[in-house]
This record gives sequence, structure tokens and C-alpha cells, in this order.
Amino acid sequence: MDLEFAVNGERFKIDSVDPSTTLLEFLRLNTPFKSVKLGCGEGGCGACLVMLSRYDQELDQVKECSINSCLTLLCSVNGCSITTSEGLGNTKKGFHPIHKRFAGFHASQCGFCTPGMCISLYSALSNADNKEFTVSEAEKSVAGNLCRCTGYRPIVDACKSFASDVDIEDLGFNSFWKKGDSKEVMLKSLPPYNPKEHLVTFPEFLKKIKKLHNGLDHSRYRWITPFSVAELHNILEDADSIGSLKLVVGNTGTGYYKDEERFDRYIDISQIPEMSMIKKDEKGIEIGAAVTISNAIDALKEESKSFYVFKKIAAHMEKIGNHAIRNSGSIGGNLVMAQSRKFPSDITTLLLAVDASVYMLNGRKTEKMRLEEFLELPSVLDSKRVLLKVEIPSCTAACGDDTEFFFKSYRAAPRSIGNALPYVNAAFFALVSRQEPSRKGVTVDKCFLAFGSYGGDHSIRAVEVESFLTGKLLSYSVLYEAVGLLKGIIVPEKDTPHPEYRKSLAVGFLFEFFYPLIESGHRLHNLDTGKSLPFLSSSQQVLESNEYQPVGEAVIKVGATLQASGEAVFVDDIPTLQDCLHGAFIYSTEPLAKIKSISFRENVTPTGVFAVLTFKDIPDQGQNIGSKTVLGTGPLFADELTRFAGQRIALVVADTQKHADKAATLAVVEYDTKNVEEPILTVEDAVKRSSFFEVLPMLYPESVGDVLKGMEEAERKIISAELRLGSQYFFYMEPQTALALPDEDNCVKVFSSSQAPEYVHAVIATCLGIQEHNVRVITRRVGGGFGGKAVKSMPVATACALGAFKLQRPVKMYMNRKTDMIMAGGRHPMKISYNVGFRSDGKLTALEFTMLIDAGFETDVSPILPRNIMGPLRKYDWGALSFDIKVCKTNCLSRTAMRAPGEVQGSYIAESIIENVASSLQMDVDAVRKINLHSYDSLRKFYKHIAGDPDEYTLPLLWDKLEKSSKYKERAEMVKEFNVCNVWRKRGISRVPILHQVMQRPTPGKVSILSDGSIVVEVGGIEIGQGLWTKVQQMVAYGLGMVKCEGSEKLLERIRVVQSDTLGMIQGGFTAGSTTSESSCEAVRLCCVTLVERLKPTMDQMMIEKLGSVTWNMLIQQAYAQTINLSASTMYKPEYSTMEYLNYGVGVSEVEVDIVTGKTEILQSDIIYDSGKSLNPAVDLGQIEGAFVQGLGFFMIEEYTTDEKGLVVQEGTWDYKIPTVDTIPKHFNVEILNSGHHKNRVLSSKASGEPPLLLAASVHCATRSAIREARKQSLSWNYNEGSGSDFELPVPATMPVVKSLCGLYSVEKYLQGKINGQ
Ligand SMILES: Cc1cc2nc3c(=O)[nH]c(=O)nc-3n(C[C@H](O)[C@H](O)[C@H](O)COP(=O)(O)OP(=O)(O)OC[C@H]3O[C@@H](n4cnc5c(N)ncnc54)[C@H](O)[C@@H]3O)c2cc1C
Ligand code: FES
Ligand code: FES
Repeated sequence: MDLEFAVNGERFKIDSVDPSTTLLEFLRLNTPFKSVKLGCGEGGCGACLVMLSRYDQELDQVKECSINSCLTLLCSVNGCSITTSEGLGNTKKGFHPIHKRFAGFHASQCGFCTPGMCISLYSALSNADNKEFTVSEAEKSVAGNLCRCTGYRPIVDACKSFASDVDIEDLGFNSFWKKGDSKEVMLKSLPPYNPKEHLVTFPEFLKKIKKLHNGLDHSRYRWITPFSVAELHNILEDADSIGSLKLVVGNTGTGYYKDEERFDRYIDISQIPEMSMIKKDEKGIEIGAAVTISNAIDALKEESKSFYVFKKIAAHMEKIGNHAIRNSGSIGGNLVMAQSRKFPSDITTLLLAVDASVYMLNGRKTEKMRLEEFLELPSVLDSKRVLLKVEIPSCTAACGDDTEFFFKSYRAAPRSIGNALPYVNAAFFALVSRQEPSRKGVTVDKCFLAFGSYGGDHSIRAVEVESFLTGKLLSYSVLYEAVGLLKGIIVPEKDTPHPEYRKSLAVGFLFEFFYPLIESGHRLHNLDTGKSLPFLSSSQQVLESNEYQPVGEAVIKVGATLQASGEAVFVDDIPTLQDCLHGAFIYSTEPLAKIKSISFRENVTPTGVFAVLTFKDIPDQGQNIGSKTVLGTGPLFADELTRFAGQRIALVVADTQKHADKAATLAVVEYDTKNVEEPILTVEDAVKRSSFFEVLPMLYPESVGDVLKGMEEAERKIISAELRLGSQYFFYMEPQTALALPDEDNCVKVFSSSQAPEYVHAVIATCLGIQEHNVRVITRRVGGGFGGKAVKSMPVATACALGAFKLQRPVKMYMNRKTDMIMAGGRHPMKISYNVGFRSDGKLTALEFTMLIDAGFETDVSPILPRNIMGPLRKYDWGALSFDIKVCKTNCLSRTAMRAPGEVQGSYIAESIIENVASSLQMDVDAVRKINLHSYDSLRKFYKHIAGDPDEYTLPLLWDKLEKSSKYKERAEMVKEFNVCNVWRKRGISRVPILHQVMQRPTPGKVSILSDGSIVVEVGGIEIGQGLWTKVQQMVAYGLGMVKCEGSEKLLERIRVVQSDTLGMIQGGFTAGSTTSESSCEAVRLCCVTLVERLKPTMDQMMIEKLGSVTWNMLIQQAYAQTINLSASTMYKPEYSTMEYLNYGVGVSEVEVDIVTGKTEILQSDIIYDSGKSLNPAVDLGQIEGAFVQGLGFFMIEEYTTDEKGLVVQEGTWDYKIPTVDTIPKHFNVEILNSGHHKNRVLSSKASGEPPLLLAASVHCATRSAIREARKQSLSWNYNEGSGSDFELPVPATMPVVKSLCGLYSVEKYLQGKINGQ
């Protein structure tokens, strides 16, 4: 039979298809539905989610769930209905309430993640169907989806607005209701949702398809669907004649293993009844190997006999991947991956602890064996055995007054429910009995102790520990001995990251399980202290202002509903022309070497390859240039010599993106390092070889005061302290992408996802050796930039342009996540050594430091770093300040500007020094901060003319205001109490001020009024999700409103801001530095002033003639009749003396650190930020929260590292973890201070894009404080790794880092103390 299915109700019948084609590939390449986005291709981001509906003819029931279209194979959706976000609602048929609520809660910024988020929520709602949809489900519905812009809070609010148990007043700032509205009004103003009306129905035509008994036609689809074990067996018997085979269920395994191999046939084993059944009886539960994890969870939760254990297994399994992975991934697939490919599985660990068995098909035989034995077999995948089912025995051991069993599972992962593999998992089962009343204590009668994911071959049972404990009366010394034994068993393989940490986690889990049994003495019950996750809550204080209406109002972001439905067009959504080719970069893996040759593996040109372009293909009149800033240029390709690992060597051009990517991985580059000098791979090497980038004196900040004198005045000093900071990757959800089209007369048109189209344009022209008027670069929207789509977007667009120019065919490139990560560069790593002098009351007297910045090989914008770093670093009155900052040129990846480049490091360095001063004085760090905050006078000393007027220095006001609103003092006391009462959890609270210098840059703008009165606007700035278009639209409405005719106050909806076109508007510059929105606004305001001046005489004349009201349309018609020029353009040039200014904010964060795992939970963050008179408080709030959460990633979780050759180690969502909904502050309160009039600012507004990122340091500092408490405590156990309060907390403070500072061996030391009677 044919492959037939529906997408958004539309029928699709496919004659034949390569069986490895994913649903995502099909949707994006063969349908108009582009809301499914490719963010990672490995199940890790949620951008590609769709709803899958399957009809069960026998039950006449439709089952629905969300799935990852990037992993699902097209053939497996035969007979199903697929719904994408545009299928829920769209411009034509009307938006879905989910879309409208996402827009109204300001939950979409760049919009790239939004369709996937909407599908996640929709799927949760549709599954709730007749049940209540709760706040808890709402929060979890988006747990595995990534968003890099919003910080999640508004997304969660949009989801919670659908929950039946929501307290509507708990929902955050939105455009549905105003502050003070009653609950009834609030409820009524939400776009109504009615499941009957808003749930998508299953297409009738699919219901009529006869049951798919014969499966797809084998010959056309190479897809075989056996319907019984016997059939499967026959297929396997014939395997050798068929060719290579792959069994599949959900195919999610390819998310991890990225199939290198191509298979001749796929065998879909999901339709075999024996493998899809769930059977329960008093002996236990049997789960077919093809049962999905979600269905297994439901069955385990329902099972009542072994309720306690099964429920816990189910609860643990709910932390696997995300909803979509659990909906398609099978139990069998997981076990086989663990067995044959060392996958760090949670399920194997859980099942080992309950002594599960498996059934396997081996030839014609069915074998039963214990899971333990199964794991020890040679690879099942190699032996063509099939896992049929799993049997979990009932765990209803006879319990009486004196005996009881316990089951608990553990999992330490960077994100608890947000799609992250664990460092270690464990599951323990124990039957224990109480001793005679005379003998206090508990004896272990039997136990199963399973551990996994620690870096061994597979999950294991710690049998020696089990035997040791069995029959023993639990005591501190018994547990201590057990721990010792366990450490000999948990031995991570070589090259496993953080081996000691993993070992200590295993020990910690064992301790957490048995310790309460010792402490509880006779009592056996109620030992389960498992904390349930608290709900997220938030509050926002936002002042809308109506002085310049509609500027100052919380207008919904332009295109937010379009972004939610997925109709918003990103570069890769532009329909592909038939003859379009696709490019992928081949990059170097050597830091400095001659390139001898480039070929493909086995000298076979891979399928679809059309050309391989290198620097030799650059036209003679052109140049090898790939990027450009005012500070320098970078080459497009390495020439004869590669100068850093990750450098572009060639562009392979093929017929599809899949083929181009594949070919790039098959490329073989031969290097030669003979007669090539040693590469410079560290900043220390750079110093030795004096390899530095020049920093122009105008970009090099000045020192302040007399440091020698300051040091003399110091009563105390810290000398030669050192600090290192690493990098951070942008993780924009839309990877780098461009599409180039050749045009007549040596012209080329390029669609680029870029923050700097003007520069892209110039680079392309120079590279191709053509005049700039031959090039046109168009950018409509960018799916997240954060600085990464500025300089680093240029070579992508240039390479495509080169391909198009040379091959005279359109060339597109959509970088895969791995290559993007390898080339992106990200933040600058740096090393700082400092001396600081201070008085004994904490007052600073002098700071001097040297700093080495690793800029990599290309100039990029690195020479601005010293200036950027010194801006926020001067936030404290250091007394005197001097420094020596070197921008090192190394043979490493070129680093670039990432949101708050240098500023976040500068601000953090100041905090780190303050922390060390406080700890050396044993003073409260908050007091040290306060005493060193600038007075206005010292502010002027450190910032000179940019300090502004005295009343603009709002930092002290913010400092005090937040102290009150966050109840800082009371909470600091409570934290102290908590720390006294709790041994294994410690809290910290910290208040951090920020001061961030920004600079306006010249920006063009153009406003044109069309004959029907509608208005079209062009600006230099690019919409990268930061709400620039929205603010510009508001400003134009305000500016033209000055004409004051009837209806002119309602112009907002008549204005459209259009894509940037570098020939339409020149000199657009860079969208960077937080000020592009305000500069673009000012540019269009000036245009409006011109237009209003031109319209005014006509208006006055019409008023006289009409003696009544003149409408906007009448005015414009008349102006057209009089041929008044209704298009005005300008270049806004900020005043030199006031173009730079300071932004202020304060953040307080409170965290709780789990000493056993090193996990830091952010209990609460409070922020106050001075936005001047916000141009749009909804947009600014989004910027503040989003930046804070991105900062959180930098300070707490994101590791972007390189190997010894300088090649980036992290490859995608498996090893690069950005924050998810479960890692943001549990309570998140943000206040935007409307600090009134600022005469030199654009309508008194101030920037918000980058500065709030710096506030995330408050979380890091609070963590440091909690760790300090833990270390103080361990000193009292005579245990000290390092010296008490004197330590540096690295950035990021990941779980292994935190744990190692709290003490990897704290459990052992604690037990020793107990044994010794302490
Ligand atoms: C993003 C993501 C996050 C994840 N997070 C976790 C996690 O936190 N914890 C965890 O434990 N797991 C996790 N997983 C793994 C996930 O559970 C497995 O990918 C899934 O269960 C595999 O099932 P599948 O049906 O998709 O297998 P498939 O991908 O279809 O198959 C996997 C492999 O097993 C073979 N196979 C499948 N079934 C059988 C069978 N019955 N007999 C013999 N061979 C078979 C296939 O040929 C293939 O080689 C994650 C996966 C992803 C993609
Ligand atoms: S693209 Fe499918 S999950 Fe990221
Ligand atoms: S809005 Fe979520 S990634 Fe941009």
C-alpha cells in the first residue's frame, strides 16, 4: 500500500521515499508548513515539534501526542494526521487562543522557538481533554523546549493561563488586562479557549483507510512492517539476502547516535501486538519492547499492586528527555541502546533495582533472562536478537510492623526535568526490619543497589555492597564501610568527564538512602522526604507612560501571533527554487598547518556533491575576505595554511543540505606541520611571543587616580590573586543561514540572517570583486542573534554568494548545530591577576590588574574589549585604578561580541574582587559592596562626562529600593537560620549592583506614507527578537500623530516596518550594543517631524476650508494631489557629548545548594532596573528577563570549551546546556524603574538589551555564599579541601564545580565524625 497521511487536514500520498527521510525534512521541503523549525536535529530543543494523531479503528478513538519531527521517520506516520502550529490557527482561518495568549503574554521574542512551544502546550491541553489541566502540567508542558530569548517566565504564564487551578492574579504582565482589574475582568479578557472548538479533529478520509495490514509496499519504500513475531522472524531469517537492516520504533536513538551508516531496509516493529502490549497480574507487569516510555509511565502509575515502587519508577521516567521523546521513544529501544551502545540509560538502572527480566527473540527461540544478564551479553544489535518485552516483578514484599521495604531513585543532571542526561543515576530497593525494641536500629534483610550513567559500560548492581549490607544492623560505621566498597565499584572509564564527582554522587545517593534509616532508629515509616518541585511564580512592576502615546505603552510585539503560528518567514522558510544548491563548510581540525590536499573518504565523491570551493575559487578581481569590522577583516577561507582549528577551509556544494552536510563530514584534509612554527594556543604563549592585537589609544580606557598612593593607604592587601573566565556560545535557536541568488549583469541578491547586513554587503562585493551596487542583502528577521549573527554571519552569506556567483545557481546554507558551534567563537576567555588594597572597614583604596584576553586569530571586534570590560568594572569606587589589558592573538577560534561582550566579565571581576576582600576581612560582603558604591563625585571621577546629571545617578536609590521590596535584610537572617538547621543543604543570598555604559551610534531611518494612508518604515536596525520594530512602529505613530488630524492618534495599525534591504537603505551599520532600538526610533521620529512639517500647511488649509474635522485619509489624499513629498529619510547622528550614558540596576538572588549533588536551585531573584521612560515596558521587561536568564547560563551551566588543539568540544544539545524552565528562579520579580525625565535620551528612554545580563552574577555570588557555609561546616568536621572561606568559584558554577568546592568526600567525613562521636 501507499504511504498516506494528513498534514493540517491536507492529504499527502507519497509514491516512494528514502526510508531515512525524517518527517521534518518532508514538511520543510515538500509542504508549505514551515512552522516546524530545525534547531538541533537531535531531539534536544523542541523547535520541530508537531502533533501526531493516530486513529484506532477498533476502539474508534484518536490518540494524540507531540513528537519531534526531526527524529521521526516519514514512513512511520503512515495513516496518521500531523498538526503543526499553523494547523492550529493562522492568518487566514484565525489564530488559535494559544497563539493569541502567547502574543498577549509577550512570550515570543525572535519567534523561532514559539511554534514548538505552542505545540507542546497544545499537546498537553489535548491530552488533558476531559481531565483538569493543572498549573503543574502547564509548567511541565514546555519543560524540554529551549528558548534563548524570553527567559521562559512569560511562556509559562501563557501556559498557566489555560490551567483550571490557576490563580489568575499570579499571572505576569500581559496586554489583556490592566493592573487593578478584578479577577472577573481578567478572566474575561483572555482569548477564550473551548476544547470543543479549538481541538483539531482527525480527518475523516484517514479514518476510512483500511487497517494498514500489509504495511507499505516494501519495494518502493524499503520499509517493512511485520505484524507478528513470526513475520519478524521470517524477515530476520532472510536478512542476509535483503541487505543491511535496522529495527525501528521511535527512531529517537538517532538523536544521540546520528546514524552514519545507511540501511537497505527499515523494519518497523511497532505494530507487533506482542511487542506493544502491557499486561498486569499479581506477579507483576509485562511491558512490550515497542511500548513508548509515555505509555509505560501511564501503566506504571495506574498499577495499584506495587503502587509505591511502580509509581516511583514512573516518576523517575518522567524526567527522561522531554514529552516528545517519551511519546515516541520505546522501552526496548532504550534498553538496547544501553546494552549495545553504552547509552547512559535511566531505565536500565531503575529496572535493575527491581530485578526485572527481559524476553528476547533469538532465532526461533524466545529466551528469558534477568536484565543483569542481558546487559552483559555481547551487543544485541550485532547478534540480530530482538528484545520482545520486559517483566517487572511485583514489589509487594511482606511488610509488617517490623519489616518494610523502601524504594528510591536518584538522578543528578544539569537540568532536573529539562532534557538532560544524568551525571549519575541510581535506584535502590531495600527490605529492612526493625530490631527488638531493646536494640535500637534497623537491619537490612535484602537490597538491590543499582547505579548507572557514571561512565561504565552500562548500569550495574553494586553486588558487593549489597552482600555486605545484607543481614547487617545499619550504623554509621556499616554505612561508612559500604561507601568505601562502593567507591571501588563505581569506576568511570578513562576520558569520562568529572570521574571523582560521579563517584562522589554515587556515594551521596547511597548515603541519602540509608542514612535516614539509621537516624530514625525504630521508626520505619514516613522517611520519604522527597521534595516536590515548587511552582514558578513571578511579579512585575511596570509603569506604562502615556506622555508620548503610543510610545510608552506595552504594545504587543509586531508579528507575535505570526511567530506563534509559524507563518513568520525566516531565511530558511523562503521557498527554495528548484535548482537551488546547498552548502556546508569543511573546517580545519589543526591549529596551524599547511593544507596539503582536500579530498573525500576513500576518494569517492559523496552523493549529490556539485563542487568544492576554496580560496582558489575567489574571482581574480576579488579578495579572500569573509568578514569585516571597522577594526579589521578576516579571510573567507584558509589559504595554503590553516591558522586555527575550526577555520573554514572549503565550501562543499551539493544538491541538498543533507548531502552537503554529509559530504563535509566525509572530507579528508591532509595537513603538514613540517617547517611550520608552533601554534600559539594559550594567552601565556601569546605573551611569550608578543602576539597581540593593537588597541587604538582612543579605545583604550584611562586609569584613574594614583594607584601607588592608594596601595600605600591600604591597611590590607590581596596580592597576585588570579581569576580565569571561559567562553559562552550564543545558542541562537536559528543557526547561521543565508540564501544567495545570482542575478543579471554580475549581480547577486542575498538573504542573510544577520545583525549587520551593511557589512555583509560590503564583504560580498569585495570578495567577488564587484561594485557594491551589484549586491543586495535582505534581512527580514533573525531567529536570535545575541551578537553571534553580526561578524560571524558574514562568511556564511559570503560563501553562499561566492557559490551563487561562480555556479550561477542559487546557493543556500543552513548550518547544522555542530558546525555552528565549532565556528561561532562566542565570548572571549580571559585571565586576570590583580592586587587590591583596602582598609579594615572594607573601603577600597586601589586596584591594579593585568588581563590577558584570548581573542583568537582574527581581529573581529576584539580590540573594543578593554573598553567594554572597564565600563562596568568601574562600578565601585576603587580609590585608584590602573591596569594593563592585552588582547592576545592566538591560533584559536576567533572570539566575537556576545551580548554584553566584556561588560559581563568586567562586572563580574569587580564582584569577585569584592567577594575576596570581604572574605579576607571576614566581613559581610553586602556591607563591603555598599561602602564602595560610588558617590556622585566618585562617579564623575571614574566616568567623567558620561556620568550625567546627579539625578540621573539612580544606583543608590535602586540599591535601597530593592532592599525593601525584596526584604533583603529579613531574608539574609532567614538564610543564616536555615544554614544552622540544615546539614546537607545550604543557602546563600546576594545583592549585586550593575552599571553599564552604552553608546548610541548613527542610524538611518525612512518613513513613507502611501496613497491609502498606510505607512511603510525602514530602519537601519534589524529585528532580532528585541522588539525593535515594535518600538519603531510606536514611535512613528507618535511622530505622525503630531499632525493632529482626526484619527491620527490611531495610526499604529497602519504602520508596517519592512525588511532591511541594503540597497533600499544604506549605512544600516551593526544592530548591537543595546542602543539600536532607540537610535532607530530617533531616526524615524526625525523623519516624522519632517513629514508633519510638510503636511502642516495642507492640514491648516483644509481645516480652514472644511471648517470641521480632517481625517488622516483625507489629509493624505490631498497631500498626494498636491504632490507633497511624503517620504522622508534621515541619518540620526547622536550628539558626541551625550551619545554615551550609564545604565543602572540591582539584583538580589537567593539560592539553595544541595551539598550531596552540587545542584544549585535559584529560590528567588529580584531585579530592579532603570529603563528611563521605557519606550515599551513589555518589550523592556522581556529584554531584562531574557538577558538575566542568558546570564544565568553563563554563570551557572553553559560550558563552551576547547580541546588541546583549540577545537570546540561541545557539539550540540547533548553537551551544551542552556537554561530551561526548570533552572530559572522559582520566584522571579522584576521592577522597571521609570526614572523620569532624561533630557539627552530618546524620549527619556534608556537601553535594556544587554545590561540586565550582568545581574545574573547575583546568582553566582549567592552560590558562593552558600558554598562558603558548606565549607565552614566541613571545617567543623575536621575536613577541609582548600582553606575554608578563601576560595574562587569558577564560572560556570556547574554541579561538579559546586560539589567539589563543598567537598567531594563530605559524606565520608561526616560519617567519620559520627563514628567518632562528634
Ligand atoms: C533528546 C533525548 C533525550 C533523552 N534523554 C534520556 C534520558 O534522560 N534518560 C534515558 O534513559 N534515555 C534518554 N533518551 C533515550 C531514549 O529513551 C531512547 O532514545 C528511546 O527510548 C529509544 O527508543 P526508540 O523507540 O526511539 O528506539 P529506536 O531509535 O527506534 O531504536 C534504537 C536502537 O535500538 C534498536 N532496537 C529498538 N528496539 C529494539 C528491539 N526491540 N530489539 C532489538 N533492537 C531494538 C534499533 O535498531 C536501534 O538501533 C533520550 C533520547 C533523546 C533523543
Ligand atoms: S530540531 Fe528537533 S528537537 Fe531540535
Ligand atoms: S523567542 Fe524563544 S528562542 Fe527566540
